[in-house]
Amino acid sequence: MAFHLSITLAIVAFALSSAYAYDPSPLQDFCVASNDPKATIFVNGRVCKDPKLVTSDDFFTSGLNTAKTPTFAGSTFSAASINEIPGLNTLGLTLIRNDFEPDTVTPPHIHPRATELALILEGSLYFGFVTTDPSDRTKNRVYAKTYNAGDVFVIPQGLIHFGLNVGSGNATTIAIFNSQSPGFNFVPDSLFRSNSSISDDVLSKSFRVDKKVIKQIRSQFS
Ligand SMILES: *[C@@H]1O[C@H](CO)[C@@H](O)[C@H](O)[C@H]1NC(C)=O
Ligand SMILES: *[C@@H]1O[C@H](CO)[C@@H](O)[C@H](O)[C@H]1NC(C)=O
Repeated sequence: MAFHLSITLAIVAFALSSAYAYDPSPLQDFCVASNDPKATIFVNGRVCKDPKLVTSDDFFTSGLNTAKTPTFAGSTFSAASINEIPGLNTLGLTLIRNDFEPDTVTPPHIHPRATELALILEGSLYFGFVTTDPSDRTKNRVYAKTYNAGDVFVIPQGLIHFGLNVGSGNATTIAIFNSQSPGFNFVPDSLFRSNSSISDDVLSKSFRVDKKVIKQIRSQFS
């Protein structure tokens, strides 16, 4: 009897410990995003288009045979996100193609709401992420590796990660995220943009360098 009770309590404790705080699971076959700029209804995601007005094109985009939009010097991207495929609304997915010229860096960044799974289509890229030790910040650890065409790697949700094209030619990756809104938080930009609200004083103390060094770095981000 006591055994059964403890099993029951364990199951209840497990159920209560589960938190569903991310993109909601779909509650219908689809919920295609509305393009109405005057929409005044706010939901977690975007409001649904009238199902009677939904067409096949709401579930489709094209052009990912190239990466068109510049990101950092030497890199471009094309996205298949909720902006291109309104039918992705509430489905918890984003796909991005990135092209990198040789020596191009992807600065340390975080996707606060998504795990990333990436396939190298072409080239050689050094990619890695940093784990945070919960009890000792001197024990943070880097997991990094050089990946080649056909390799697939995962970046756990919310961790700082980075990349560098270490091959002699261009490189291409296809990355998928388990959120329609992964978030793209590039650490250098967040810290050093000229109109960032973080003061030189805070940054010079945090990085343990003279304020001149902070001003020099900041000048590269104006
Ligand atoms: C590498 O990418 C650049 C920029 O898109 C392009 O101009 C160049 O032709 C590419 N090189 C090769 C060998 O495909
Ligand atoms: C920060 O500066 C950029 C570039 O000058 C400008 O486009 C942007 O609106 C500014 N943002 C704020 C919050 O002041």
